Amino acid sequence: MNFDIIRTGRAILHVTDLDKSRAFYEALGFIETASDDKNLFLRGIEEHNHHSLLLKKAETPVVEVISYKVRSEEDLDRLAAFFEKQGTKVKWMEKGSQEAVGRALRIQDVSGLPVEFYAEMEPAERLLQKYHLHKGAKVQRIDHFNCMVPDVEKAYNYYINELGFSCSEYTAGEEEKIWAAWLHRKPSVHDVAYMNGFGPRLHHVGFWLKDPMNLIDGCDVLASMGYGNAIERGPGRHGLSNAMFLYLRDPDGHRVELYNGDYLTSDPDFKPVRWDLDDPMRQTFWGHEAPDSWFEEASEVLDVHSNEKVKGSEPTLKKRKPTFVT
Ligand SMILES: [Fe+2]
Repeated sequence: MNFDIIRTGRAILHVTDLDKSRAFYEALGFIETASDDKNLFLRGIEEHNHHSLLLKKAETPVVEVISYKVRSEEDLDRLAAFFEKQGTKVKWMEKGSQEAVGRALRIQDVSGLPVEFYAEMEPAERLLQKYHLHKGAKVQRIDHFNCMVPDVEKAYNYYINELGFSCSEYTAGEEEKIWAAWLHRKPSVHDVAYMNGFGPRLHHVGFWLKDPMNLIDGCDVLASMGYGNAIERGPGRHGLSNAMFLYLRDPDGHRVELYNGDYLTSDPDFKPVRWDLDDPMRQTFWGHEAPDSWFEEASEVLDVHSNEKVKGSEPTLKKRKPTFVT
């Protein structure tokens, strides 16, 4: 492939009440770069670009798009040519049509997820060493997307063979069918994970924290501000990825993961780690189960061309008991 996708860039989520969303995300330590009565642009303390999370006021909570940053404008042109050759309809978002972001292209990907690519985003002050401004869980940067799709192998094959992603870890079941896969462009465990389930839906957006104690700080601050019921799962340690995690539900039910401590995957001879579907340690290394909501609930997504909700479908692999699903 002749294009270079750098990393997970931003998510655009529709929310019903910007003030409620602002209070929640600021409690976690997100920094507000800009806002108006329709948009709230948020970034982590390490981020040097305008935003990694854009919340838009809307009637219904839904995912507008998940975005990847590419190396250059030329990469956008090459990606567009690639998609068009494959018969995938491309929607160009011209420079100036979106605040803070240059030219971007959007597609409905092989799983039906709304995906965007952009090269340019306005800079913002990096607050990593402005310690007096760090609050809550001290969210540092966006890390990954996790998506529920009905055919994980289809997504896996496409992102690896066509878009140049690499696999760090995966879960296999009967006949070695891939149940879930963690794929990356940046040298970490993932930029995107796909899990078997009703979809396409966005399961969560993962944000990186500087250390595990920040997960506890996040819980303490949320609880003391009356957001205790936003804590859905964790803190805990994943088997898969080895990272520490905390799953939260925002005021509209969108799920965010606070995440810390995976490992380097840059070596070309790194061998993907296989987990068996029946190994309970892969989802939570310490063995405790996730709640049913974590397996069943996820955010619906929009069609980039029609702006209608994408109709989901049941997974091709048969359902397993939630305790055996990561
Ligand atoms: Fe995650």
